[in-house]
Amino acid sequence: MARDVLVLNGPNLNLLGTREPGVYGAATLADVEASCRQKADALGLSLDFRQTNHEGVLIDWIHEAGRRGAGVVINPGAYTHTSIALHDAIKGTGVPLIEVHLSNVHARETFRHHSYVSPVASGVIVGLGPQGYLLALDAIAAILSK
Ligand code: DQA
Repeated sequence: MARDVLVLNGPNLNLLGTREPGVYGAATLADVEASCRQKADALGLSLDFRQTNHEGVLIDWIHEAGRRGAGVVINPGAYTHTSIALHDAIKGTGVPLIEVHLSNVHARETFRHHSYVSPVASGVIVGLGPQGYLLALDAIAAILSK
């Protein structure tokens, strides 16, 4: 059975490619999805790639991952810095999860330095652009095969 991974993207990530390209680069979310699909195929992972602008939807998807026994790669966007509910969902389901940020949040505004997700993540990758998603898939594949 293929190991199951959900790649979840939070608010405003649907704007990638046109949103602050100096910060987030030129790749669109469709480009990121295409490279994730290639990587998942190579790793033998079954991939669901999703984006939402709604906090509760992200939480429902974390619960779904828990029920499915799936791993999660998540870029929670700005909810990273605000969402205790997301923290609780990850903690409550115990899903293995890698947090990814395209930009180096630690080199940006101070309000981006704190993450509610990091304390309940298996690992965190920041500042490497779309490659961060591919490294996160490597990491989640290794965790799921343990
Ligand atoms: C982001 C960083 C967040 O601070 C920001 O709100 C985003 C994108 C990133 O991928 O670098 O929406 O998660």
